[in-house]
Amino acid sequence: MKNRIKDILQEIENLAAQNNEELEALRIKYLSKKGSVSELFNDFRNVANEEKREIGQLLNDLKNKAQDKINNLKESFSSQNDAVQKLDLTRSADPLKIGTRHPLSLTKNEIIDIFSRIGFTIAEGPEIEDDWHVFGALNFPPEHPARDMQDTFFIEQNPDILLRTHTSSVQSRIMANQKPPIRMLFPGRVYRNEAISYRAHCFFHQVEGLYIDKNVSFADLKQALMYFAKEMFGEHTQIRLRPSYFPFTEPSAEMDISCNICGGKGCPFCKHTGWVEILGCGMVDPNVLENCGIDSKVYSGYAFGMGVERITNLKYQVKDLRLFSENDVRFLKQFESAI
Ligand code: DAH
Repeated sequence: MKNRIKDILQEIENLAAQNNEELEALRIKYLSKKGSVSELFNDFRNVANEEKREIGQLLNDLKNKAQDKINNLKESFSSQNDAVQKLDLTRSADPLKIGTRHPLSLTKNEIIDIFSRIGFTIAEGPEIEDDWHVFGALNFPPEHPARDMQDTFFIEQNPDILLRTHTSSVQSRIMANQKPPIRMLFPGRVYRNEAISYRAHCFFHQVEGLYIDKNVSFADLKQALMYFAKEMFGEHTQIRLRPSYFPFTEPSAEMDISCNICGGKGCPFCKHTGWVEILGCGMVDPNVLENCGIDSKVYSGYAFGMGVERITNLKYQVKDLRLFSENDVRFLKQFESAI
């Protein structure tokens, strides 16, 4: 008798059922009138008196355990059922990872933020442009190499239509349509016919700046750019302006900042000079003002243009330009904390 009780107890501990029918079958097998537990109770009559106490306890224990087991199984089914009934199909799905801002957007936003603090607002212009706004109005002579097919993407059917090579094109549009004072930034994408490599791409991004008013001087330009450099790269940053040439500015300059990677001591990034070039600038050429309908005897202005990729490289030291357009999340995720 004891052995049978032990065997059944073992069986009961291992019981499993997939659904209510299976569970009912188990209940019948063990606990119904003819079930094996009830049968043991029937046999109890034949147990010797001196064993009755011990076996009686074992039997009661077995019956309780069997009942508990069946109840537990039943409960687990009904809680599964409840879960199905409580399933709210109108709930939105688990939130998808929202991603991070693109490093170029981070830089662009920072540039905009810095200049907005000294009164610059924003405008955008078309990426597919005409020759006049990209070159003509900006004082490019007809034979200028930028107009060459080697450098610029033209629309074959109409060589007057092209992909803008710089955001200076937005200058010509704004000046033709707005009266000074104009104090604006023009961020956007530009295109050049370049072979793609780690340091060149056929498209990249620029932010152009333009300030036209009465009595705007080169000193104003220098002051604005020095403010920008220190805000962007830190208070210790030095600037240096080198004379240069652009058809749309006179005089023209290129601006270097002290290399913020080595602090000006010299490193591979700055080619051991301690300086890195970050933008082109100058006083808007009077021809450009006149081309756009602004009286160059009354107004003067400055302009500057910088590459967003270049500034981003300086800030985050990205060595391969192609990473910016591949959209590999392993690269993009590294800018999570920079938002
Ligand atoms: N448009 C020039 C370029 O793409 C950059 C530039 C230089 C813009 C001087 C300016 C400027 O406004 O004054 O290389």
